[in-house]
Amino acid sequence: MEFYVDIADLESIKKVAEYYPIDGFTTNPKILTKEAGKVEGLIPQYRKFAEENDVKVFFQVTAEKAENMLEQAKKLKAYYGKYLVVKLPAVKEGYKAVRLCKAEGICVCVTVVHSMTQALLAAKAGADFVAPYISHIDNIGADGVTAVEEMVMAFENGGYPCKVLGASFRTADQIRRLATVGCQAVTITPEMFDLLIGHASTDASMEGFRKAWKETFGEKQISDFVPE
Ligand code: G3P
Repeated sequence: MEFYVDIADLESIKKVAEYYPIDGFTTNPKILTKEAGKVEGLIPQYRKFAEENDVKVFFQVTAEKAENMLEQAKKLKAYYGKYLVVKLPAVKEGYKAVRLCKAEGICVCVTVVHSMTQALLAAKAGADFVAPYISHIDNIGADGVTAVEEMVMAFENGGYPCKVLGASFRTADQIRRLATVGCQAVTITPEMFDLLIGHASTDASMEGFRKAWKETFGEKQISDFVPE
């Protein structure tokens, strides 16, 4: 499964990458507003980060019309090259833009997806990723994980090489369940990475190890027993 961090703050991205095996980072227009005043300076730093770590960067177009989305995508592609994934919204103009972008060899993610049928047409149009908003689907009384399961099956049935990138999570359990239905990627907050690995029983066992070791060996470390 691919893991992305859903944030634009470069220090947070670097911190997550230091600890966890990420495949890149994802942004959207709202996330980038948190970096207001810094975006111009961040653009080249994002590229450096992508090159140095060989990871993907996701940027969403802000244009409304397909032709303008394409222009924005081409400019981003010229700058970020193979590291770029352009996010196109799952609205009519976005669907038109998918094929325009694919004709230019641009990697595309159809985003703000809330139904299996939106995802199906995105895959048919040639999208490389679709990004369903899991919690939003859950919030309207449907089941985000089931929707993803159906997307994965439909893409297999149709022979579409489109990956499902789950987004918008509230619980670690949503991610656990997604991993069991063939979801190929998720994008999550830095806090969620910590939640995924956090376990009270692990902490309790670690405390037990620490205590026993200290009582027996004091400040000595395991490496101190190894001959030079
Ligand atoms: O990538 C999706 C995202 O940023 C929206 O998530 O949690 O604001 O619904 P949320």
